[in-house]
Amino acid sequence: MAMMHMFFLLILFLSAGVILPLPPVVAAADADGEQFVYTGFTGSNLVLDGAATITATGLVELTNATTHQKGHAFHPAPLRLRGSPDGTGTVRSFSVAFVCGIVSSYTDFSTHGLALVIAPGVRSLSAGLTDQYFGVTNAQNDGSAANHLFAVELDTVQNIEFRDINNNHVGVDINGLTSVVSHEAGYYDDRNGGGFQNVSLISRAAMQFWVDYDRVTTQIDVTMAPLWMARPSKPLLSTTQNLSTVLAVEPSYIGFSSSTGPVNTRHYVLGWSLGIDGPAPAIDAAKLPKLPQLGPKPRSRVLEITLPIASAVVVLAVGIALVLLVRRRLRYTEVREDWEMEFGPHRFAYKDLFQATKGFKDKHLLGAGGFGMVYKGVLPASGVEIAVKKVSHGSKQGVKEFVAEIVSIGRIKHRNLVQLLGYCRRKDELILVYDYMPNGSLDKYLYGHGDGDGMTLDWAQRLHVIKGVACGLHYLHERWEKVVIHRDVKTSNVLLDKEMNGRLGDFGLAKLYEHGTNPQTTRVVGTTGYLAPELVRTGKATPLTDAFAFGTFMLEVACGRRPIKQDKQGNQILLADWVLDHLHRESLIEAADPRLQHEYNSDEVCLILKIGLLCSHPSPSARPMMQQVLQYLDGELPLPEMTRTTLSFNLLALKERKELQSMSSPFSSTAMTVGTISDLSGGR
Ligand SMILES: Nc1ncnc2c1ncn2[C@@H]1O[C@H](COP(=O)(O)OP(=O)(O)OP(=O)(O)O)[C@@H](O)[C@H]1O
Ligand SMILES: *[C@@H]1O[C@H](CO)[C@@H](O)[C@H](O)[C@H]1NC(C)=O
Ligand SMILES: *[C@@H]1O[C@H](CO)[C@@H](O)[C@H](O)[C@H]1NC(C)=O
Ligand SMILES: *[C@@H]1O[C@H](CO)[C@@H](O)[C@H](O)[C@H]1NC(C)=O
Ligand SMILES: [Mg+2]
Repeated sequence: MAMMHMFFLLILFLSAGVILPLPPVVAAADADGEQFVYTGFTGSNLVLDGAATITATGLVELTNATTHQKGHAFHPAPLRLRGSPDGTGTVRSFSVAFVCGIVSSYTDFSTHGLALVIAPGVRSLSAGLTDQYFGVTNAQNDGSAANHLFAVELDTVQNIEFRDINNNHVGVDINGLTSVVSHEAGYYDDRNGGGFQNVSLISRAAMQFWVDYDRVTTQIDVTMAPLWMARPSKPLLSTTQNLSTVLAVEPSYIGFSSSTGPVNTRHYVLGWSLGIDGPAPAIDAAKLPKLPQLGPKPRSRVLEITLPIASAVVVLAVGIALVLLVRRRLRYTEVREDWEMEFGPHRFAYKDLFQATKGFKDKHLLGAGGFGMVYKGVLPASGVEIAVKKVSHGSKQGVKEFVAEIVSIGRIKHRNLVQLLGYCRRKDELILVYDYMPNGSLDKYLYGHGDGDGMTLDWAQRLHVIKGVACGLHYLHERWEKVVIHRDVKTSNVLLDKEMNGRLGDFGLAKLYEHGTNPQTTRVVGTTGYLAPELVRTGKATPLTDAFAFGTFMLEVACGRRPIKQDKQGNQILLADWVLDHLHRESLIEAADPRLQHEYNSDEVCLILKIGLLCSHPSPSARPMMQQVLQYLDGELPLPEMTRTTLSFNLLALKERKELQSMSSPFSSTAMTVGTISDLSGGR
């Protein structure tokens, strides 16, 4: 028995006290640059960019758990892809293997993903945006043949814009993020007759990928497996794409690109190898650095074995009870401060919200916006259906004022506003609770769900929604005890209740993000395409900047078109300009949404389009107040004459137009609310 104890003690010492040296870095590249293998990245000279770093343990960390980040890591030497042995200059065969891991701060949600990229160098990705663009492309260049880009994406968010199949897929991308072929992440298991086994990309476990290209057949195979598993014989997906026409400029570089969105996520690469005209060298899994573990480390088992069984059981029981208790505590901890006492009745317990949404499960996710995610829930006590919006905010700055304001706004009750029921606070999170709107947001009806179902609204319904929203906005501006500026009027913030009334949601929310850390800068918060030119210039929101957004909204509902669209030459066309053009050519009615199939009252459609144009006038003094808009809508007030001179947008405000374009250009027209920073101190 004594011997036994000695033995275990020895093991204990060995495992605790002896720090094993790090595995040596193998970044061997042969003279031709035709092969390399990295087993961990300590001391390697990868070209890093954005948030990418190499950690002390030798992992490439592409994003570092801050939101809306991107990071790139590239092999420093160019790929010699073109000197094929037959002298035709076609792209040679190559094979890549890599091991990576995605560690999100949530277990069931992550943004956005990671991609293996072959491109004309890390510089060519510098215009790549965060979020759904993976740090690879942006709204302007996505899909352009001039990108000379090949990528394999591991995507954890379903993006309708890129026709993503789900929120856990692997895809092959040529020049843009709409995959030419994609498949649910997983592998065909050789051990059970080749049956498909799905794998969650965000399980926080290391996964290995193989990408193979064949020069002769131009076949691309992508295979994946958990790290502990041998390479499956059947690839996850295959396609033929002649990369000779894609990677047409020399030199090409290979690397990784990754981005985060509203969720804090870390993207890691553990090991990587490449072979040209031959297989990629095998990566030694045992020598790879480990992914960081979130949460407490598992307890050492050695002790449990050495202790008498009885006491082990006791310790275990106490341990489990403790862990459960602590977890319960942690799970429901919230932040509550003295100044919140007065908001008592509006304060929800985190526990109730957690239970209402079944633990903020993916299944209950209604959607994600620029500020965070929205979940559906049912309050356990009353059975009331709610929508719960989780907003992450980095600092505490301004939160007190914001909560005070949002609670005061929450007292507003109006038929055309989404009622705020209350709020809750946790460490870096503000949670807002709203009435649940069973018919969802208006944008889904105008632009479909991306699956081609033809459900849309008829003209009478659209007119009813426009009138409702106008009433709601008028109430906020002119009827309530204070002037409330919405700041983010747009189709996704208009929700439809049981009776298909339009209701404005998210009012005042943008304000939380307006506190810049530097007093010299002001953050303009709103959504591209809805920002009035003077708002971009001065950063000051007024009822007339809301009126501008409302004008864009009206045009959008009548035309069924997004506020900014790209034409074939890649120029951005503002919806207002497009409608104005129709007005000048006296073909205004042709701007109506074709999905209405001519079933409308033309006078009504023209009225809406004209009011929309008036409201989107670049000069604030030319825009009507909401009171007037209501009178125009009801026919109580005739519209002012709309001639070329009163509406000469382009002459009047060419400069402002340009500014608006340059402010908005980096963002996609379908983008969520974004903050843009304008420097007020610098002379213009
Ligand atoms: N009260 C609600 N009832 C039902 N669904 C809702 C409610 N609030 C939001 N949603 C759904 O959740 C989705 C996400 O909302 P969210 O406000 O986060 O994003 P967004 O409106 O697209 O962008 P933004 O962050 O700029 O407001 C919406 O598109 C809508 O479908
Ligand atoms: C993450 O990276 C950004 C950009 O490099 C940096 O500003 C920030 O401080 C980093 N955050 C952490 C937590 O390391
Ligand atoms: C595999 O897919 C099923 C059904 O879609 C899902 O319930 C399960 O959670 C998935 N498993 C993993 C590991 O993602
Ligand atoms: C691929 O494209 C290159 C250049 O356009 C061409 O020379 C080659 O024959 C093509 N290969 C196949 C298999 O089509
Ligand atoms: Mg919203």
